Amino acid sequence: MKIKRNQLCGNLNKDNIGETVKLNGWINTRRVLGGITFVDLRDRYGLVQVRFDNDLPENILTIVKQLNMEDVIAVEGEVQHRPEGSTNKNMLTGEIEVVVKEFEMLNKSKPTPFEIKKRETGSENLRLKYRYLDLRTEKLQKNILIRHKALQATREFLSNDKFMEIETPFFIKSTPEGARDFVVPSRVNLGKFYALPQSPQTFKQLLMISGFDKYFQIVKCFRDEDLRADRQPEFTQIDMEMSFIDENDIQKVSENMLKTIFSKTIGKEIVTPFPKITYEEAMEKYGSDAPDTRFEMIIENVEDFAKLTNFKVFHSALENDGVIRALKVKNGAEFSRKNIDELTELAKTYGAKGLAFVKYKENEFQSGISKFIDEESGKVLIEKLKLIDNDLVLFMADKWNVSLTVLGSVRKHLGKKMGLIDNSEISALWVTNFPLFEYNEEENRYQSMHHPFTSPNEEDWQYLENNPKKVNSRAYDIVINGQEIGGGSIRIHSQEKQKRIFSALNISEEEAKQKFGFLLNAFEYGAPPHGGIAFGFDRLVAILAGEPTIREVIAFPKTTTAQSLMIGSPDIIDEKQLKELGLKIEIEK
Ligand code: AMO
Ligand code: AMP
Repeated sequence: MKIKRNQLCGNLNKDNIGETVKLNGWINTRRVLGGITFVDLRDRYGLVQVRFDNDLPENILTIVKQLNMEDVIAVEGEVQHRPEGSTNKNMLTGEIEVVVKEFEMLNKSKPTPFEIKKRETGSENLRLKYRYLDLRTEKLQKNILIRHKALQATREFLSNDKFMEIETPFFIKSTPEGARDFVVPSRVNLGKFYALPQSPQTFKQLLMISGFDKYFQIVKCFRDEDLRADRQPEFTQIDMEMSFIDENDIQKVSENMLKTIFSKTIGKEIVTPFPKITYEEAMEKYGSDAPDTRFEMIIENVEDFAKLTNFKVFHSALENDGVIRALKVKNGAEFSRKNIDELTELAKTYGAKGLAFVKYKENEFQSGISKFIDEESGKVLIEKLKLIDNDLVLFMADKWNVSLTVLGSVRKHLGKKMGLIDNSEISALWVTNFPLFEYNEEENRYQSMHHPFTSPNEEDWQYLENNPKKVNSRAYDIVINGQEIGGGSIRIHSQEKQKRIFSALNISEEEAKQKFGFLLNAFEYGAPPHGGIAFGFDRLVAILAGEPTIREVIAFPKTTTAQSLMIGSPDIIDEKQLKELGLKIEIEK
């Protein structure tokens, strides 16, 4: 390479006029006008127009004529003002151009499978296969830069606040965060497996016992679960733990950290402290433990109304310990039958048996369940929901969590579909007072809503054995724009109490000892009161970048079937490797 850059493409401007500069970069566009070749040369910092005049030596002109998109070149030339009328206001370097004197071809490019400057010319799968090319696009260059800034802002903020960054191992034993483990066979210990951490949960607690009272780590976590737009099998957390604190301390540090991250990465000032809402209120009002509070549409209890109707569905739900809730949709009376059928289908995917509705138009109830509504019950509903002309009411009659989860999902769907959300708004809140346990209907047992190291509320310990449903926990989630961005809790720090939790979860003493004996033992050596939180870093960056999926903010993400289309993983391993590991593959067809 003879011409080594001494300037960056995107950084040049009027101040450089008259200077001779050397540039290296990729060809973003190439056009020929009146025999003169113009190239937009691209590097990480931006684009600059480069002009190849006709008076260049013949050997250079021959190559210039054959330049292709994405060829890598080096030029040396003078920065000049662009001629009158050819300046480009949309380009940061739009007032100048570089008139080439020397040229060097650094490497040719084959035609790319999609256009770098027009990403949508490639399907997502194609772009995932050629991710290194997708990463050249303006959008991903911007997103990865935002991610970098967020990483640095996080580290700087936490280090300044005395947090120490400490790495914890990846080859461990199962940590119960509710997903399946990814496992790694051990060659040296045949027949045994490491589990990859679903989070560093137990290690960060051990670090508190070691006396590092403020820990953080920006760390990969591994979870084998069903993937979605906001889930990857390996993802990144900002993981934190502190000693001698209560929930307010953790919440305050978290708010200040987020404030700094938003400000330093995208220049957005967010308002702190964030409002708090209990789990129960979040479910009752928004039908979700991750409520999107950027729009209204509050769920209401309409049981007084339901009792007055003669709609069987309502009565049988109430007789079976169910609840009746309603969602009022402004102007929803305009919805067609098809629109409503779609909502019903959506409701069914969340476990609804149906989604009753009624329209309120010209002072009367129409269609849906209107035939079950008489004057008296109608009056109660109008008052309760403050109905006005053109409202639609959707009803759910089912178990508490089903009714609310369904209406909450319909609510989020309608918020998006009806354009009720201001996408420039950042709405953050804490959800607190979660139940300690949730009942797993399929497996007929209680499981931790957060994880088994979460402390119950002090006053609820008394119900642990006799009425576990009644026990609330010292857990908190942070929700931004309807997405769970982080979660944590104050932990248990006594062996005896931790054993009580394991036993309430039906984990035998033996199993507890085998799985978590190291932690239970450690609790006996002066474990300080402690607690912490972890943020889903990819989700946070997606919000910073305004992206709908975390795939757009991860350099090398996986598909929703947990594959890398670029390197082709997961893949088979050869017989020799299997043998060394003492493994045999048997796939049932
Ligand atoms: P939790 O399991 O809630 O808590 O995880 C913390 C945050 O991580 C993000 N997250 C994910 N992001 C992308 N892909 C995934 N598959 C994925 N799973 C979770 C979410 C979530 O809020 N050890 C506890 C924290 C603690 O108690 O301190 C934990 O891991 O944004
Ligand atoms: P049916 O009497 O079964 O024809 O139901 C009448 C209406 O009630 C239909 O619109 C159903 O979608 C709806 N529906 C059925 N079950 C429920 C339920 N559990 N909660 C709310 N609506 C329901």
